[in-house]
Amino acid sequence: MILIVDCCIRGEASITRRYYQAYLETVPNEDICILELAGLRIAPLDNDALQRRDDLCREKRFDHEMFCLARQFRDADEIWIAAPFWDLSFPALLKVYLEQIMVSGLTFGYAQDGRCIGYCRAKRLRYFSTCGGYYGAQHLGYEYVKALAAMLGIETCIPYILEGLDIDPQRREQILQQAIGNLQQPGCVQE
Ligand SMILES: Cc1cc2nc3c(=O)[nH]c(=O)nc-3n(C[C@H](O)[C@H](O)[C@H](O)COP(=O)(O)O)c2cc1C
Repeated sequence: MILIVDCCIRGEASITRRYYQAYLETVPNEDICILELAGLRIAPLDNDALQRRDDLCREKRFDHEMFCLARQFRDADEIWIAAPFWDLSFPALLKVYLEQIMVSGLTFGYAQDGRCIGYCRAKRLRYFSTCGGYYGAQHLGYEYVKALAAMLGIETCIPYILEGLDIDPQRREQILQQAIGNLQQPGCVQE
């Protein structure tokens, strides 16, 4: 199953969503699960939630409903994350989701020597993002997710990043269409 984590807050108006949807059209007959974060009722971990979670982890009750998002993430064959570039990274809602899936003992753990071991099945993560300006290698949203993926055992991260979308609003559509035409060559596309 391909799990698509959609953090495109602007919904149908989102250019990031249109970008990943274009890529999705090239994927033949896969088992796809699209998780629209804006429609989930998830909140940042507070003290109560953290204590409940710690108790469940200590008792190894990973079948608890509190861990359904983490189990889904762990079991996916491939992960896609789609999130616009906000305030030098991504919307806070994606961080809230990542808090839900980072569960010690379920999605990752530690070896005797302290090394982190990832328990996730996926070997590949595709990260779709669009930015108003130009950042190149400094896309901190992608870099952060890539570091997290390594911790979870996901070896390969592939960026699909479009830049300069807000420089000339008249050219937004052109930038998107050009990128869609080059979807087999992912990376950072600067206009
Ligand atoms: C709250 C917010 C924060 C943003 N922060 C940045 C930023 O730090 N750097 C940047 O280049 N663009 C920034 N942008 C512009 C978006 O990255 C850009 O418009 C993007 O294409 C929006 O994607 P979407 O259509 O999928 O929502 C921001 C936009 C919003 C709404």
